[in-house]
Amino acid sequence: VVCKNLGRTVFAVFDSGLGGLTVLRSLLDEFPDRDFVYLGDTARLPYGSKSGSTIRQYSLQILKYLVDELNPDALVIACNSASTQVHESEIFGKKVFNVIDPGVAKALEKTKNNKIGVLATRATVDSQAYQQRLIKINPEVQVFAAAAPLLVPLAEENWDQDPITNLICYRYLQPLLTQGIDTLIMGCTHYPILRESLQRACGPNINLVEAGDKLCQNIKSSVEEDSQLRAARQIKILLTDLNSQNQKLCHSLLQAHEISSIEHINLKTNHEEIL
Ligand code: DGL
Repeated sequence: VVCKNLGRTVFAVFDSGLGGLTVLRSLLDEFPDRDFVYLGDTARLPYGSKSGSTIRQYSLQILKYLVDELNPDALVIACNSASTQVHESEIFGKKVFNVIDPGVAKALEKTKNNKIGVLATRATVDSQAYQQRLIKINPEVQVFAAAAPLLVPLAEENWDQDPITNLICYRYLQPLLTQGIDTLIMGCTHYPILRESLQRACGPNINLVEAGDKLCQNIKSSVEEDSQLRAARQIKILLTDLNSQNQKLCHSLLQAHEISSIEHINLKTNHEEIL
């Protein structure tokens, strides 16, 4: 049981791997009194190159696991590819937050010329989730999307500002830049790890958008505050594959925060019945 030492009100955060730690970082800063459990499905990463139905199956399995084990106050899907496949109303009466709506809202606030780029995984681009939501809110907007599958492994290597990463970012971004975008949605939670390389490829005049701060605002306005006092907050990380590189990256991405534990979980043995 993963929830033994946790306080009453837990936020559960889920990503295909460790990119969602960029979202967890914002949440940890914004909700200093909450306990957090982060589940990274590192054994099955990447989700972004899989079909929608596989991503959906994995995501529902994990969300069910988190609900059963933790009964969390809020579930955060810190993965764009998973967010495109799961409807928030599906999750057993829990408050579920995704990373797409906050990114959409922020990009629409930032753009001045109504030309928005979306860089994301293939699954996210193919789902049209960003394109449809942006245009639904503002039909004037033009959206240019590109899939950038090589960026996830570069992020997991933590190769921001590496000349190779800079080149690959430039190559993926080129078709969007020639369209004259003034705002780029980093439509994959791994990409903020490569922020410097992406900004460099875009040049200084393009706004890079990630979901973090808007997501926190959304959660603040719909989840009750937790006034319960507890000694120290818990930050637990559960990974479906645990290795030394994963652990290193967890510590380096959450530098400012003390991780209570990093554990391996085996979803199969815990949840055979839903496989
Ligand atoms: N972090 C995932 C996302 O935001 C991408 C990584 C993957 O392909 O699994 O889509």
